Amino acid sequence: MITFDEQTGIFHLHNKQVSYVLQLVRGRYLLHRYWGRAIREFRDARAFQPIDRSFSPQPAAYENERTFSLDVLPQEYPAYGHGDYRLPAYEVRLADGTTVTELFYDSYKIQKGKPELAGLPAAYADKHEAETLTIFLRDTADKLGVELHYTIFADLPIITRDVKLTNTGTAALELLNAASFSLDFPDHDFDRLMLYGGHAAERSLERRPLVRGIEEVSSRRGASSHQASPFLALARPEATEKQGEVYGFNLVWSGEFALRTEVEQFGTTRLIGGINPFEFRWYLAPGESFQTPEGWLCYSRKGLNGMSQAFHALIRQHLLRGRYQHALRPILVNNWEATYFDFDDEKLDQLAECAADLGIEMMVLDDGWFGHRNDDNSSLGDWQVNTDKLKKGLAGVAASVHKRGLKFGLWFEPEMVSVDSDLYRAHSDWVLQVRDYPSSFGRHQLVLDLSRQEVQDYIVRSVSDVLQSAPIDYVKWDFNRHITEGFSLALPPERQGETRTRFVLGLYHVLETLVQAFPDVLFESCSGGGGRFDAGMLYYMPQTWCSDDTDAVQRLKIQSGTSMIYPPITMGAHVSVTPNHQVGRVTPMQTRAFAAMLGCYGYELDITRMSDAEKAEVREHIALYKHLRPTLQFGTFYRLLTPFAGTANETAWQWVSEDGKQVVLMYFKTLAEPACPIRTLRLQGLEKNQVYRVTDYWPAKGLAHDTALAQHMPLVGRQFYGDELMYSGLTVEKTDADFGAWLWAFEQQ
Ligand code: DGJ
Repeated sequence: MITFDEQTGIFHLHNKQVSYVLQLVRGRYLLHRYWGRAIREFRDARAFQPIDRSFSPQPAAYENERTFSLDVLPQEYPAYGHGDYRLPAYEVRLADGTTVTELFYDSYKIQKGKPELAGLPAAYADKHEAETLTIFLRDTADKLGVELHYTIFADLPIITRDVKLTNTGTAALELLNAASFSLDFPDHDFDRLMLYGGHAAERSLERRPLVRGIEEVSSRRGASSHQASPFLALARPEATEKQGEVYGFNLVWSGEFALRTEVEQFGTTRLIGGINPFEFRWYLAPGESFQTPEGWLCYSRKGLNGMSQAFHALIRQHLLRGRYQHALRPILVNNWEATYFDFDDEKLDQLAECAADLGIEMMVLDDGWFGHRNDDNSSLGDWQVNTDKLKKGLAGVAASVHKRGLKFGLWFEPEMVSVDSDLYRAHSDWVLQVRDYPSSFGRHQLVLDLSRQEVQDYIVRSVSDVLQSAPIDYVKWDFNRHITEGFSLALPPERQGETRTRFVLGLYHVLETLVQAFPDVLFESCSGGGGRFDAGMLYYMPQTWCSDDTDAVQRLKIQSGTSMIYPPITMGAHVSVTPNHQVGRVTPMQTRAFAAMLGCYGYELDITRMSDAEKAEVREHIALYKHLRPTLQFGTFYRLLTPFAGTANETAWQWVSEDGKQVVLMYFKTLAEPACPIRTLRLQGLEKNQVYRVTDYWPAKGLAHDTALAQHMPLVGRQFYGDELMYSGLTVEKTDADFGAWLWAFEQQ
């Protein structure tokens, strides 16, 4: 999978799907030569033409060679200061205040498998699944050593990259920027796709032409954030969901990040990703190293959906860990939108009884069970049960939930503290803050300084104590504000710029300790919904609450956007009440149920108040979900129609089970239209010569009865060849009602 040709200096990382080519030139410079569809061998047909470009300087050793300039060369890890005026991949401030260093190639190493990244989440692979190339670069003045790591997987069109930088000199230096990867494309004939959003409106897709100059998608919020995802894609303008070239990038990092493109004077594109250099500093004493987070580089020639399928496979097979990596996720009911802070033993017991009766498998007790918390003003940090509210304690609640045959889950927000808490009264210095300015609040709370070991230890201890105090099967780990005054009272001045990076590393340490100590607990991460939905968090917690917007129509967008990178099994999605609490919309139960079936399915409403008719419908949906769950959670996912296209009125998702035997199709139409065309859905990923029998058909409620096809020819039981379903397609029956949802399931015969 990785070869090096001494003669040509070509490193070629390749598998059946993708090739990534680097070239060592003049024994010193590491250039990027090709990345894309797999090629047998790179023989330089697309030779780099040396041209004398004015105002593009020559490095000292090549003063008389006016066609040789770093300003125009495609580089793998470019430096600042020697005539390349584009964005640099790294910057260091030396002891004398200057920021010029010069990295040259030193040596390389190829190894089977993929080494771990100490203290960081990363994709993993054994020696049969991947190979890793390390390229060692050395500074000419011996001040810095850099290792570039590249892993190629045997059967995925993905390469991972990360970088380790070491102070090899005798004086301390300051890292100002350390990207996880950088690479140069020879052109800029791309659309640029990013996921933007806000609280309760995460991950909408924006697609527009890549333009000249510098563009950035980034976070300065202390977390990956609702506002931007650590993802960027460059797609050829003709690329669609289904076909065409797409280059996708994703960072395994839960903190502040930046993914930047620069289209420069000659039309080439540089793309750099990693920790956001804004306000980032890392002090390196002689001998010390800094390890960047990992970046994922995905090449798809099968459009956006091909990119998504590759990311999904990487996440499912090489990122998620633990007992729940391959285990079916339970159907849950969460009491948040059912009760908010207003609950007691009796109310929880009623919920549990009703949940068990409906076929639900787990009950989650959300915010408000600890300290004296009856609203969001107090008690964060005091992780002791409130026995005024829960007289039998957590063990009592867990027992009554378990007695009903349900698992029991609990909410925490361990990175935060309320001013009105015993923790804050004892340790006000444990909060991120600056000395001479008051701290800003978010949701009345402050952020603990997880760069401090004693704070990490406190969180591990207090969460462990609770998990040991009662049989708890699931944890929802929340994070409900972004960081302000993001500095530490415990760090010396020269290390203050490390605080927010150390915060994330501290969080990773806490999470690793807890998931190792409690291997049977299912962890779900959350940040006011999906404000920290990233691959870093998924390494520890295999699912994430997708959004605080539980409206089914909004969720079609949020979940379609999320599916660009993350597989359905990672998305928490619940049926909530109508009128919906965020947008007031009234939607049919079936639409709410099918929209939630895209993710790890659950309910988030007061199920005890449902009518008998509603309960009967819920029982049917739960039975349907259980029947389809292995396919929905482990199958291959296809976006047939996304709400980011056209009038945003239609969405269609499809799954094919791992063994190819079961196929599930869902279609949503937001607003009914009078003069609409007859919609045909063409399925994907079937065996064209195999026969598929319709096992389930759930048309939208409100079908126009005079035209309903099912009246004339019932669909369930009918059999179709795969080629007909893929090439000719399936009719969606017209409905006269808004917010319709349809579902079909097929079994291969
Ligand atoms: C934000 C989460 O996204 C909600 O689901 C809920 O857990 C609240 N926090 C509780 O404060």
